[in-house]
Amino acid sequence: MEKDLMANQGQSAAEIVFDRATKVYRGAPAPAVDELSMTVPAGEICVLLGPSGSGKTTALTMVNRLVEPTSGDIRIDGVSVAEQDATGLRRRIGYVIQQIGLFPHMTIEENVATVPQVLGWKRDRIRDRVRELLDLVGLPPGEYGGRYPAQLSGGQRQRVGIARALAADPPVMLMDEPFGALDPITREHMQDEFLRLHEQVRKTTLFVSHDMDEAVKMGDRIAIFREGGHLVQYDAPERILTAPADDFVARFIGADRGLKALTLRRVGDLPLEPADTTPDTAPLAVTETLHTALSALMTSGTDRLPVADGDGRLVGTVTLDLIRAEAGRPAPHEGEVA
Ligand SMILES: Nc1ncnc2c1ncn2[C@@H]1O[C@H](COP(=O)(O)OP(=O)(O)OP(=O)(O)O)[C@@H](O)[C@H]1O
Ligand SMILES: [Mg+2]
Repeated sequence: MEKDLMANQGQSAAEIVFDRATKVYRGAPAPAVDELSMTVPAGEICVLLGPSGSGKTTALTMVNRLVEPTSGDIRIDGVSVAEQDATGLRRRIGYVIQQIGLFPHMTIEENVATVPQVLGWKRDRIRDRVRELLDLVGLPPGEYGGRYPAQLSGGQRQRVGIARALAADPPVMLMDEPFGALDPITREHMQDEFLRLHEQVRKTTLFVSHDMDEAVKMGDRIAIFREGGHLVQYDAPERILTAPADDFVARFIGADRGLKALTLRRVGDLPLEPADTTPDTAPLAVTETLHTALSALMTSGTDRLPVADGDGRLVGTVTLDLIRAEAGRPAPHEGEVA
């Protein structure tokens, strides 16, 4: 079964192109999404980030045609969604929302089987697929498959929602604040689980969030929207943090962006100072983030710590100055943001 999933990988992600996609809701004075153009490469996670009302959900739902663009186009692997039958399109796009809406009178297995059943898969194939997916999201089918949604925790229900969205192996996943209603610990756990899952299945994923930390963690790229449905920056997380396109982005990502950027860099990336011959503190691994290194420096009360490679060999010394230099790398508009 695992092999099946792997075999699907190559063909199961798709490129998504927004081509000046615009939505003006009836009677609205201004567009909800205004000439959105961006390309999400196959297999990547793109996080849509921005304040309430900035058009994130509208952008997402134009992809599966729950909302029709007023003008412009959205293409999946080169084919305009407008040319595709809406129902068929939605079966090929996994959709996960905050209130995931599992069918309460159906068991977990029956819930996950929904789309394959609609597609007319053979019973054995559906059963195998459902079990495979429940395993994949960490809900052993023997234990959970026969339960009803009310008999699961919020985080477990959310996982069922993800399994259900993945059931027919869609090339695209749309996730609208999927972990928004969860407590911080469950949320972090779900983020980790989803990233682990994504490593395996590599769906092209549009993921709406309004949380910068979540965006940095989840996104290969982040699209930042502002009021009026304007895309203001579309970049890798590191670029967003270190080179915000304008004042709005800089304010949105917050004053501690230097600290956040530290979570994206590794000790091994720094031009380390030479190794001390007889360090008196335990070494940090080259793979630790600069954020961790900073914490270690602060708790150790020294301004330098030895660094070791995977074999425990000392390879250099990390200093507070090195980290400071890295965190303080100037970004455009730095002066305008207090
Ligand atoms: N069905 C609708 N009819 C009319 N206006 C709508 C409709 N849905 C959304 N809007 C408006 O379009 C704009 C964008 O809404 P959208 O739901 O896309 O924002 P969002 O970024 O997802 O916000 P949030 O973070 O609060 O979920 C808002 O001004 C909203 O009021
Ligand atoms: Mg929304």
